Amino acid sequence: MSFEVSNTILIERIQQSKINEVDFENLPFGKIRTDHMLICEYSDGKWSQPRVVPYQDISLDPSAKIFHYGQSIFEGMKAYKDEEGRIWLFRPLENQKRLNISAKRLAMPELPEGYFMEGLSTLLKLDKDWIPTTANSSLYVRPFMFASGTGFHASPSDAYTFVIACSPSGPYFGGKIKVLIEEKYARAANGGVGFAKAGGNYAGQFYPTNLAIEKGYQQVIWTDDIKHEFIEEAGAMNIFVRIGDKLLTAPTSDRILDGVTRKSIIDVAQDMGIEVEVRKISVHELIEAHEKGQLKEMFGAGTAAVVSPISGFGYQNKDYELPELDKNYADALKKKITDIQYNRDEDKFGWRYEVK
Ligand code: COI
Repeated sequence: MSFEVSNTILIERIQQSKINEVDFENLPFGKIRTDHMLICEYSDGKWSQPRVVPYQDISLDPSAKIFHYGQSIFEGMKAYKDEEGRIWLFRPLENQKRLNISAKRLAMPELPEGYFMEGLSTLLKLDKDWIPTTANSSLYVRPFMFASGTGFHASPSDAYTFVIACSPSGPYFGGKIKVLIEEKYARAANGGVGFAKAGGNYAGQFYPTNLAIEKGYQQVIWTDDIKHEFIEEAGAMNIFVRIGDKLLTAPTSDRILDGVTRKSIIDVAQDMGIEVEVRKISVHELIEAHEKGQLKEMFGAGTAAVVSPISGFGYQNKDYELPELDKNYADALKKKITDIQYNRDEDKFGWRYEVK
């Protein structure tokens, strides 16, 4: 797939690039920003012409509704550069669609389809030198929308701002992670906004995650909000479990994000001949499988996290270690997915999207 850019985006270039200040050999995740950003405003029932401008602060009235009622959604994507310097995105239309699904749930206006892809392509072409080529690095792309309209009335804003900002980034996690299965707090409930990429879904996780960090874990595995009986997702990623040779993941629902990496892993695994079951996974089943020596692997999957192996989990004050396998699904699936993303392998699924 490729995408041709039309002339509908206004471009204001930076005077002096900051790229020489960046150590591309040691990229943190999400801390460095590129020279430009895309911005587009909504008011009086319509979106303005998108503009690519030098990366800059945004000034808001203190009564802007984002500050009070949290109308804020985002997406997470990555841009990759192959050995020939060609630029690739991975299933970007899924992100574009999901942004508008989130927008609808948060009573925000949908972004016109063309704006997302044209804006993103224009921005990436302008900041293409910022797409890292160092191992395990990529350009993290963060499209987001927030309520910029003013007033303290608890009702949807009448003005919004859509921005795409980019960050040359290394891995999200430093290595294998240890997770805590949550027994008290909940990330989402039926009928809520758990399936949307709403900023508040993440804010609500920080406190329980801090408690888990104090106990020596890096992430929380969220469970259902009623009985905390079934594992759901980890907030920054969906969760996969290998019991015997079967790969399991929870079905998406009102409470679980429909992750692009999650659904790609399911397809790639099946294509590799791995048996995949999408069904509810109880904590009891995990522990029983662990006791029988059948719980072979757990890993997270997400745009930022890619495929992140889990070394063990905590539950009811007990730690459960996972074995170190020479041949594991996590490594094999990560290789397959990233080979497609970086244009190192055939893309039989048609997921790669060239920006040119
Ligand atoms: C992503 O994986 O891109 C996300 O949006 C998750 C975020 C917590 C980094």
